[in-house]
Amino acid sequence: MNITIIGSGYVGLVSGACFAEMGNIVTCVDIDSVKIKKLNQGIIPIFEPGLEMMVLKNVKNKNLFFTTKLNVALQNSEIAFIAVGTPMGDDGSADLQYVLSVALNIGQFMQKRLIVVDKSTVPVGTADKVKATIQKELDVRNSDLHFDVVSNPEFLKEGAAIDDFMNPDRVVVGADSEFSLKKMKELYNPFLSDQDRFIAMDIRSAEMTKYAANAMLATKISFMNEIANICEKVGADANQVRIGIGSDQRIGYSFINPGAGYGGSCFPKDVKALTKIAKENSYTAQLITAVEDVNDAQKLVIAQKIITRFGEDLSGFTFGIWGLAFKPGTDDMREAPSIYVIKELVRRGAKIKAYDPKAIYEAKEHYLKGVQNINYLSSKYDVLKDSDALVLLTEWKEFHSPDFTKIKKYLKTHVIFDGRNQYITYNLEKRGIEYFRIGKK
Ligand SMILES: NC(=O)c1ccc[n+]([C@@H]2O[C@H](COP(=O)([O-])OP(=O)(O)OC[C@H]3O[C@@H](n4cnc5c(N)ncnc54)[C@H](O)[C@@H]3O)[C@@H](O)[C@H]2O)c1
Repeated sequence: MNITIIGSGYVGLVSGACFAEMGNIVTCVDIDSVKIKKLNQGIIPIFEPGLEMMVLKNVKNKNLFFTTKLNVALQNSEIAFIAVGTPMGDDGSADLQYVLSVALNIGQFMQKRLIVVDKSTVPVGTADKVKATIQKELDVRNSDLHFDVVSNPEFLKEGAAIDDFMNPDRVVVGADSEFSLKKMKELYNPFLSDQDRFIAMDIRSAEMTKYAANAMLATKISFMNEIANICEKVGADANQVRIGIGSDQRIGYSFINPGAGYGGSCFPKDVKALTKIAKENSYTAQLITAVEDVNDAQKLVIAQKIITRFGEDLSGFTFGIWGLAFKPGTDDMREAPSIYVIKELVRRGAKIKAYDPKAIYEAKEHYLKGVQNINYLSSKYDVLKDSDALVLLTEWKEFHSPDFTKIKKYLKTHVIFDGRNQYITYNLEKRGIEYFRIGKK
């Protein structure tokens, strides 16, 4: 099939590469001309395991193209995916300006029958708005071109996005026409090991499914973080409790690791947007609001442990940070707990030395830009030299079995704070290292 993907970020680029990998002819469009120029030079603007190889291969095979010109891309396309950002607006609701501006452009430029697929995470009712926006532009053109709007929320996880897209747990499609449903089935068929994984439903339910999934996962995280905080008060160990409850199949082990709170581009904004959607429909989402409140507080739990150990005034102290990305396998720093921890330590006068295998550029240029007293280093052990403690904030594999002899040699005081949510339970007391982690006093 001939496909256009509008928005070439994490979701658009991964989707485009994977559709091309299956033999479709895909054109990825973006308004960011620097990004498109880089992609056309073979430079991948984000880090995602396996993505670079897949993009380069499909560009070479002439299955994958990049352009800023939506009108050109739409000329031959049967399906156009909208995969632009839906960031948090000032009032907490999803900001639809990018989605609706794309809809307007589609209405201006489409030349033949088109299925418009909403892959961005959008509030219930957005498909209707997209439809109305396109139709208005077609009316201005006096055009009777036919189009369908379909909802196809994306469930990929950054850090494992290619794998998730190529082998999805499920593909949810909300459609109101047999024609578009048939086409979507055809498109996704090569990705499905089992036909039951294609879940067709009405458009509003598909839009809601994405928010419900993210809110459920965020709830598990905040629930376990709350249990961890209670564990610390009563002298229990949240890690042992986690193992004790995860073994119950009704609960399971996923998403119940206590840690420094959830971050990333999705959970924070989607949880907030869902409370807003509920409110706009005269419903107070008490549980989901609490999930967000617990998470806001959780981001600073590790900073609080540092303050308890070193004092309220941290001037004169230097902390070595391992991990800036919101999770391993990505350079994405959107809403990463590291941002909150580092800002709090710096606010109290501390100096920071920081290392991350992939996210230093993002930290320096965007998310911690302008924050004083941060020194970014390209070696994790250099970060420790003359530092008062090591603070672990991302579960990168390379932090799982560090060289403790080096850690002891370089750190001024032998203290480790572990804010990761999948830590290794090192027996550090025996090694003469003070070890503080979430969920154990
Ligand atoms: N990142 C994830 O893990 C993930 C997972 C599932 C769903 N989602 C959802 O998918 C959507 C996209 O997320 P993302 O992380 O890929 O965003 P992103 O910020 O990485 O990428 C969005 C891209 O859209 C481009 N864009 C904006 N306006 C445009 C326009 N008018 N025409 C063409 N391009 C335009 C931007 O320049 C940017 O490159 C969001 O709604 C998000 O919630 C994200």
